[in-house]
Amino acid sequence: MKRLLIIGIGAGDPDHVTLQAVKAIAATDVFFVVDKGEVKHELVQLRLDLIAEHGRPPYRIAEARDPERDRAAAPPAYAAAVEDWRARRALACEALVRDELEDGQTGAFLVWGDPGVYDSTLAIVEDILARGNVTFDYEVIPGISSVAALTARHRTSLTQVGRPVHLTTGRRLAEQGPTADDVVVMLDAHTSFAGLDDHHIHWGAYLGTPDEILVSGPVSEVGERIREVRAEARARKGWIMDTYLLRRLEP
Ligand SMILES: C[S@@+](CC[C@H](N)C(=O)[O-])C[C@H]1O[C@@H](n2cnc3c(N)ncnc32)[C@H](O)[C@@H]1O
Repeated sequence: MKRLLIIGIGAGDPDHVTLQAVKAIAATDVFFVVDKGEVKHELVQLRLDLIAEHGRPPYRIAEARDPERDRAAAPPAYAAAVEDWRARRALACEALVRDELEDGQTGAFLVWGDPGVYDSTLAIVEDILARGNVTFDYEVIPGISSVAALTARHRTSLTQVGRPVHLTTGRRLAEQGPTADDVVVMLDAHTSFAGLDDHHIHWGAYLGTPDEILVSGPVSEVGERIREVRAEARARKGWIMDTYLLRRLEP
């Protein structure tokens, strides 16, 4: 039987990697790296650095290219574009597991943050098993999510006493507005917090990396600054990953 490890590696700081993840990396024979291309090369580089630091030779690295995704698609085509991309990504991953891993060996996907937060790897693994062309056991190693990194860096609590938190995407925030008093927003390409002047925002970009930027305050006071800082950083680096916690201000 082949064995697969889905290892959460944290949100960008090599020290986010847990001891459980370190042991899992050391137990891996073949690392699967799905490359998004040049622009986000740094995200691949962190994985390669972690493998070099914690991998136990002899191990191999097997690479595949992440299929292109239609990022311009608007609803309802957006859902179909994501589904299509996921299906093609699943095929690429299936080929890696089928062709690059032998029975009795352990393979691993190193997943950004926590594999359970807005990441398609677990769904892809289930897709591959359902198709039945290759069989394996798999285990999930949790990681420090960008949500945990954000609240820790802002020295704030994710939850308020006895209150719910809603985790959502920038796209949904733009469509529906805040759906709870406390909302964490990820995958936001358009600063969708603009105009939410009755909220406080804890914003963080490139969390855990040397480029980390933190801004916090009422949206009415810091919203414009975040927009400028974000646009400048994105232009400079060619990509950005940011996350924020919106907290409704007491009336
Ligand atoms: C595809 S999701 C992956 C989330 C990841 N599984 C996690 O646990 O954080 C990508 C989104 O996560 C957030 N993100 C991931 N890493 C981040 C970081 N270092 N700094 C800020 N936001 C980050 C951003 O909202 C980004 O758009």
